[in-house]
Amino acid sequence: MKAIVQREFGDSDVLRIEDVPLPEPGPGEVRIRVAAAGVHAVDLHIRQDDAPPSMPRPTLPMTPGREVAGVVDAVGPETDDGWRGARVVAHVGFRSGGYAEYALAAASALHRIEDTVAFPAAVAAIGTGRTAQLVWDVALVVAEDVVVIPGASGGLGSQVAQLALAAGATVVALYGGEAKRDVVEALPRHLDGARVRFLALDATDDAWPERMGAWLGERRPTLLVDGVGGATGRAALETLDRGARVVIIGWSSGTALQVDTADLLQRALTVTVPLGRRVDLRALESRAVAAVAEGRVAPPVHEHPLADAAAAHDAIAERRQRGKVVLIPSD
Ligand SMILES: NC(=O)c1ccc[n+]([C@@H]2O[C@H](COP(=O)([O-])OP(=O)(O)OC[C@H]3O[C@@H](n4cnc5c(N)ncnc54)[C@H](OP(=O)(O)O)[C@@H]3O)[C@@H](O)[C@H]2O)c1
Repeated sequence: MKAIVQREFGDSDVLRIEDVPLPEPGPGEVRIRVAAAGVHAVDLHIRQDDAPPSMPRPTLPMTPGREVAGVVDAVGPETDDGWRGARVVAHVGFRSGGYAEYALAAASALHRIEDTVAFPAAVAAIGTGRTAQLVWDVALVVAEDVVVIPGASGGLGSQVAQLALAAGATVVALYGGEAKRDVVEALPRHLDGARVRFLALDATDDAWPERMGAWLGERRPTLLVDGVGGATGRAALETLDRGARVVIIGWSSGTALQVDTADLLQRALTVTVPLGRRVDLRALESRAVAAVAEGRVAPPVHEHPLADAAAAHDAIAERRQRGKVVLIPSD
């Protein structure tokens, strides 16, 4: 079979496609014929050997890829044969191996997916979608909320925006430049248009807060979900209403959102950081897959052929991602 093999740490050109033996599932495992494999920013850190110390350092050579969707084509010993032929999605964790035509997964990691759910959407749900569900749990979004989301063109921001829209909240989705506009403007496309209150704004235009203010009228944002930080995150924080909530999920800009106690005291803000908590990941995954199956979330996906894994990594590194980046093996 074809697989991306990484034989050394380094730039994206260490990701090369090779012919490798078909993996055989062991006890409690299945083999998935991969239809879509997720690419995550963490994969870039693993590739460069600068992943956080909490993550195990991989042994090389390795095949990257922790998010996999496809059809089970082989079942290992002591494994329920009912999985054979099932459409599934799994987060395989640090065992990796997803950037390939076939990948192994523990049967306990599998989620069945309905025929109506496309494999790339399922793969967007299993890792990034479960994080969106975690955000959901701490953000406690209600229909009265006005939610501002920097980086709404990215894998996570796009799904958080869709969850909030489906709950009837007003959403202001920020994106970084004209090349991302259509992806963000299309975020509510699967929802009942009559109920959607949505504004997409280019955060590279410094006038975005004024444009938002003109659109909102008397209202101001009551919730900021920030995975970008830096100047954009701070500008978004400045727009918040008194008593607003702030959920910090990351800092793709390279600088964490700057918040000090004066912000909290003077404007009665509440800041929550959901990552690092003990959570039931399996339950979050189930909910994320259900959100896609039920049509509340329709993740934008940015597809690359499997052989172009290096280009997919570069798209993330160079901020060219348009939704969740996904690798597609050829038939
Ligand atoms: N996905 C997950 O499961 C997960 C889990 C934990 C934490 N997080 C964190 O959540 C944040 C978003 O994750 P993601 O998976 O959505 O990542 P992503 O798909 O790579 O999207 C990140 C977004 O950040 C925006 N951005 C703004 N300034 C940027 C800059 N200087 N460089 C790069 N991107 C910039 C980009 O949107 P524009 O170009 O349109 O501005 C981009 O679409 C990250 O900080 C990540 O570490 C994600």
